Amino acid sequence: MSTFKLGVLVSGGGTNLQAIIDSINSKKLNAEIAVVISSRKDAFALKRARKHNIPEFYIGPDDYESPAEYEKAMIKVLQRYKVDLVVLAGFMKVLTSEFIEAFRNRIMNIHPSLIPSFCGRGFYGKKVHKAALDYGVKVTGVTVHFVDEGTDTGPIILQEAVPVMEDDTVDTLAERVLKVEHRLYPEAIKLFIEGRLRIEGRKVKILK
Ligand code: GRF
Repeated sequence: MSTFKLGVLVSGGGTNLQAIIDSINSKKLNAEIAVVISSRKDAFALKRARKHNIPEFYIGPDDYESPAEYEKAMIKVLQRYKVDLVVLAGFMKVLTSEFIEAFRNRIMNIHPSLIPSFCGRGFYGKKVHKAALDYGVKVTGVTVHFVDEGTDTGPIILQEAVPVMEDDTVDTLAERVLKVEHRLYPEAIKLFIEGRLRIEGRKVKILK
């Protein structure tokens, strides 16, 4: 059987991309990153891909007439590289149904809170942690979920709680949450590759 192929979509620093690369290199994850696509030209994530000889592309939404054309360009590249699973890792664009249909139940996202708290439109990056701190929650966390047409609404695969400390800033909280992200994302991808995730409506069953 050929190696399971991941296509990773990024927009920023790419520490989650790095965690996936590391998991593959240390043989914890039996997969290959076939391609990395960034929505931002200057994303550090692209440099990480280059360093590991992973084909990388910048596909910028502003270079296309419509979101549909932009997504078609991404779909084309992902299909050319025969991607089995699309992994959103700090990808800042919301995908439309055209893209989701092309990879139905084969797109994962990671969100730095316990969904359904601090998620949805406008809750991305550091804004999520700011909202959690402003609200005064004692616990936040990480969610890995399948992507559907909504924003952060797809079936939840894995979640893990992360404590909020009284003296936390957005940066210290983000750092604590990221550590968990880097462990949880490869774990969720592994479950998918092993065929152990069964979607039943809103729920994801993890098979033994
Ligand atoms: C992570 O916190 C992720 O959950 C969120 O954006 C951040 C991306 O970080 N969606 P990185 O680019 O993987 O370092």
